[in-house]
Amino acid sequence: MSQMDPMKERPTGALISTVTKLINLVLLLLVAIVAITVAFYSYDKPLFTINWIEGSSDVSSESAVGTTDSKEQPEKASFFTEIHNPLEELKEQTDLNSEYIKYGYQLISETYKYIGPENGDAKMVYTGNNLACKNCHLDAGQKKFSAPYVGVFGRFPQYRGRENTIGTLQDRVNGCMERSMNGKKLPVDGKEMTAIMAYMKWVSDKVPTGEKIEGSGFVKVEIPNRKVDLAHGEEVYKMKCASCHGVDGQGIKMPSGLGYTYPPLWGNDSYNHGAGMNRVLTAAQFIKGNMPFGATSENPMVTDEEAYDVAGFIDSHQRPKKKNTEKDYPKLERKPVSAPYGPYADEFSQEQHQFGPFQEIMAYYEKEYNLKKTK
Ligand code: HEC
Ligand code: HEC
Repeated sequence: MSQMDPMKERPTGALISTVTKLINLVLLLLVAIVAITVAFYSYDKPLFTINWIEGSSDVSSESAVGTTDSKEQPEKASFFTEIHNPLEELKEQTDLNSEYIKYGYQLISETYKYIGPENGDAKMVYTGNNLACKNCHLDAGQKKFSAPYVGVFGRFPQYRGRENTIGTLQDRVNGCMERSMNGKKLPVDGKEMTAIMAYMKWVSDKVPTGEKIEGSGFVKVEIPNRKVDLAHGEEVYKMKCASCHGVDGQGIKMPSGLGYTYPPLWGNDSYNHGAGMNRVLTAAQFIKGNMPFGATSENPMVTDEEAYDVAGFIDSHQRPKKKNTEKDYPKLERKPVSAPYGPYADEFSQEQHQFGPFQEIMAYYEKEYNLKKTK
């Protein structure tokens, strides 16, 4: 019998083709599982992001407050399209969380009224000056490139060079309390701090945890490679700033006598010498994106040179002195190049740290410590 029995052949052929199909199916499934697993893990976000870890060489990513280049993320939706006022938006809400958000907003907007030196209740005095947080964090912390609070809630805890530790958002607020507000720390679990946290969480609501968004920190300034020109700074000040802040830099108080319509830029009721705004590079960035009042990152009203010189001019004046600033930055090489007070991990003079030129100081840290400094 040379002819094969077709009745026997057929089942074997069918079996082989079924097995092949099965193997194909299993392979397909395996590929799909691997693909899904890879996609899942690369998409998953960490619980919180430490923006700066020991050993990293990029100092500028510390806190907000490096700068974001608007060209970096062209397609991302803006988180700054409208300003939210919880006093209106949550008017009807009387639950405890809403009440804290509203109180947080009031503390940011009229800080002097609740915890200022003239608030009328000696037990509640925490700030040393009559500024409000929103004098520097414009639109109650909702204006882009004004070190906004939008997104801060998910970006902390983070490394802080000033303390050389991982700091919480409460620590960061207390940093501004002790320096920008020339006052003392708010109790971390007190009602005021909790309210500020509730408000910051509320404005950070739509921002993915850990993300540093376009508009955080300040705008970039092309730093002139020269010393601050104080005479030019004074000229700019008289032309573009004095109409609101006063020739004497003392601003104009509110009709109520509490707080300022135009805040002072130096003198006893201003930020102290340990504040971020007392660093020429930080002040120049703030000014370029926000001053004269009405300026924005898209429509600045000063050039980089003007911002640099007028920042130097403002910060050349007398202001309250912060105690213990020599203890700032336990790792001295982390100190921003424009911190106007020593000690330093370099041989440049105090004057050069205050007024520049900063490029040679930055070059030194890049060479000696492999640290790229932007401020
Ligand atoms: C005189 C101006 C000024 C005032 C007033 C001020 N701050 Fe700040 N704040 C700054 C500057 C400048 C920075 C960034 C500083 C730096 O370079 O580290 C900053 C940073 C912050 C940050 C971190 C932002 C981020 O993106 O990481 C928070 C939070 C903050 N301030 C909260 C407050 C609160 C709350 C108040 C009021 C109690 C306040 N600030 C008052 C100037 C000010
Ligand atoms: C049209 C009025 C106006 C002009 C002009 C103006 N500012 Fe301001 N400035 C303000 C107001 C108002 C605030 C507070 C913002 C707020 O509370 O919303 C402010 C805040 C500031 C702050 C932070 C708060 C503080 O007390 O330190 C600085 C620094 C500053 N201005 C610098 C300048 C400089 C420099 C110029 C000139 C280039 C200038 N301003 C021009 C109105 C003005």
